[in-house]
Amino acid sequence: MQTLGIDIGGSGIKGALVDVEKGEMVTERHRIATPQPSTPQAVAAVVADIVRHFDYQGPIGVTFPAIVQRGVTKTAANVDKSWIDAPAHKIFSEATGQPVHVINDADAAGIAEMTFGAGRDVQIGIVIMLTFGTGIGSAIFHDRTLLPNTEFGHVPMPMKGLIAEHYCSDRTRQEQDLKWGAWGTRVDHYLSLMELLFSPDVFIIGGGVSKKFDKFAPKLRCKADVVVAQLLNEAGIVGAAMFAYEQAKQLG
Ligand code: BGC
Repeated sequence: MQTLGIDIGGSGIKGALVDVEKGEMVTERHRIATPQPSTPQAVAAVVADIVRHFDYQGPIGVTFPAIVQRGVTKTAANVDKSWIDAPAHKIFSEATGQPVHVINDADAAGIAEMTFGAGRDVQIGIVIMLTFGTGIGSAIFHDRTLLPNTEFGHVPMPMKGLIAEHYCSDRTRQEQDLKWGAWGTRVDHYLSLMELLFSPDVFIIGGGVSKKFDKFAPKLRCKADVVVAQLLNEAGIVGAAMFAYEQAKQLG
């Protein structure tokens, strides 16, 4: 079964057709730069362009970097503020003429990693997936069940006076020109806090930084296993497509 997955990020909007049974993209990714300002109408026009590019009809999964409740985006940390309380599922469905299902970006990536990637063999216990990019996205699973919209990137870092994503996102690393070791120490502070709060068995580290895992892994001292995401930049698209496929099945 092939389903279209679209991943909306701060700099790019990417889509591909996904074989949801295999968890694999079956086309090249089609990427269009995120319009600035990233208003709902402008982003919806890009999503519609991607759907036309694939000449696709059927359920579409779309990730969004915000809390998403029943298709409505509730926050907008790194996108235009007009997304707060926007009915994203309706805006995208109208723009594309297809049923669109919207999910938080890290939740989508987590679903893909748990099914086809680094978490596929973890049957019981707590897994926390963290994606380090412009912000920090989170997805937590207990015995493989997702608790959605956790937003662990926004927890305040004790003694630092900052939320986590302003302390150790990949954007912060780049803006402050931190060496991998110095940044890894910050990530270690963050994982220690997560460990204190949730006692996870496994952390999955995703986002572009996962390619550089070897450079900062020596700084990580937590008790939980720390593993690197396997689907890399495909996780969001694959997870979005899986989510849409499941939602469409449930709705009949
Ligand atoms: C947003 C999250 C998102 C994360 C990664 C955060 O700023 O609040 O919803 O998952 O960035 O994109």
